[in-house]
Amino acid sequence: MATVQIEVPTSARERKRNLLDFADWTADEIGALFDTADVMAQVLTRTIKKVPALQGFTVGTLFFEDSTRTRLSFERAARAQSADVISFASGGSSLSKGESLKDTLRTIDQMQADLYVVRHACAGVPHQIARWTEASVVNAGDGRRSHPTQALLDAYTFRGRFPGFDGFAGKRLAIVGDVMHSRVARSNVELWRKLGGEVVLCGPPPLLPPDVAPGVARTHRLEEALEGAHAVMALRLQRERMASPLLPSATEYVARYQVTETALELAHPDALVMHPGPLNRDIEIASEVADGPRSVIEAQVAAGVPIRMAVLYTLLVGKR
Ligand code: NCD
Repeated sequence: MATVQIEVPTSARERKRNLLDFADWTADEIGALFDTADVMAQVLTRTIKKVPALQGFTVGTLFFEDSTRTRLSFERAARAQSADVISFASGGSSLSKGESLKDTLRTIDQMQADLYVVRHACAGVPHQIARWTEASVVNAGDGRRSHPTQALLDAYTFRGRFPGFDGFAGKRLAIVGDVMHSRVARSNVELWRKLGGEVVLCGPPPLLPPDVAPGVARTHRLEEALEGAHAVMALRLQRERMASPLLPSATEYVARYQVTETALELAHPDALVMHPGPLNRDIEIASEVADGPRSVIEAQVAAGVPIRMAVLYTLLVGKR
């Protein structure tokens, strides 16, 4: 008797993939993203920096919180692959007229984007939006929780710029500053460890409480954190996320935690200096360090485009 093949349709919701954090991404998949980013970086060296890879797809950028480099970089990454871009910014939207997040999303969803890039001051909003829509969702920063594409571009920059790079194993990243309020720090911890590297967190006690990133090495002494570090990442004091001032003054902070040329003498001789931006010069990082030979701060911004191209490509072509 002939058998009838019944195809069980997989709903778009089950088939779609998100980048909310690294929980369901393996080290191999992240390595593949880096390889794709290498191809994208090649495209960006051409005279015509555009490929048709994502023609017909629409990327929606939903920024409920301020951004300069992240938003520009995602838009550039989408357009360089010929995707259409629709942009939403909460300032000037109906959210200020009392519309709920869900109703706002339902409205935007009628524009039929294939992927949303979401930034929000509240942790978990991109995850919530991912449950409400059939589009893929990329987290572009949610509260203090997660900022995966920033961590990807940081690791990608390290991989491309550390002399004789031979893998993350045995490489140590020191993250210095306001770790408590930093989604960049949390995502870097998650990613760097997944790739086999080590992380040490450093900051004054109010900005580095014991429960931040459990199981990760931490110290309140800058010298200890920098000793032998292969990469040093300085973080801004994120005052907009502090309910009340957590430091007596910036002067003590600068004296003990500013990443200076002198402090860097303790680091690995080839150590790279990173910063996710925005920079507060001569607070968390000495200006001469930010502009000095170890600094890859501008390279990080540049790496954001091929990394985000790779993320959009990987999530969207998987849906085709
Ligand atoms: C960071 C952010 O918004 O999380 N910036 C960025 O995306 N490059 C860091 C910060 O705000 O200090």
